[in-house]
Amino acid sequence: MPTLGVNIDHIATLRQARGGVMPEPAHGASLAEIAGCHGITAHLREDRRHMHDRDIYLLKQMVTTNLNLEMAVTEEMIAIALDVRPYMCTLVPEKREERTTEGGLIVRGREKELADAIKPLLENNVIVSFFIDPDVNEIKAASRTGASHIELHTGDYANAPEGKARQEELEKLRTATMYAHKLGLTVNAGHGLDYHNTADVAAIEHMAELNIGHSIISRSIFVGLERAVREMIEIIDIAANQAKLERMISK
Ligand code: PXP
Repeated sequence: MPTLGVNIDHIATLRQARGGVMPEPAHGASLAEIAGCHGITAHLREDRRHMHDRDIYLLKQMVTTNLNLEMAVTEEMIAIALDVRPYMCTLVPEKREERTTEGGLIVRGREKELADAIKPLLENNVIVSFFIDPDVNEIKAASRTGASHIELHTGDYANAPEGKARQEELEKLRTATMYAHKLGLTVNAGHGLDYHNTADVAAIEHMAELNIGHSIISRSIFVGLERAVREMIEIIDIAANQAKLERMISK
């Protein structure tokens, strides 16, 4: 059954609207944990547009579940990760001009460079996950770097119009998850998942964790963060349990 990692970047986005101290992302992390999430994700971007270095150090001290530090593969970020020692580092591509992470990291052709970059993290028992598109060649490449985890980019699935196009994207995620699982990788997924499109992804066999941010933080403005997190956990649990039952019956 997939667990839920809550991405709290957009609490920091709201704080940056005034450049002050409110709302405090670490408070959001605690509430999300109280509501039952399994992990907290924060993306320290090169331009520090939402999360700041101070947030990451504070989260490391406060998070009682698992801290997932999302970051680009740069010397600066690797040094920060080695200092903070989060539970996991999810490595993403990063462009200053993008609104959010668009597309997965290209690992294929960069295996040696990326394996060298992540080596110190692995040596310090930090789990490394590559955020990649649901593409067999990227999965194979990621498995060659020594990383144990991948996160499949669900953006194309989330953006596809409901119906045939969305089902095709879902099938890509299903095939990619099965393939990665067979290679021994732990498979997470995320980006663009919301209260309507998450159930089908949660139902995928061998899906380990879903990382969800924008939809949960958006909903929390109206219903409160604990309720927003609980409702998402319920969607994931119901979908995963139902799919498990259907798989058992069809065997
Ligand atoms: N996973 C990764 C690697 C991401 O970059 C993001 C966006 O920061 C998310 C998950 C969460 O995406 P969303 O905010 O659309 O739920």
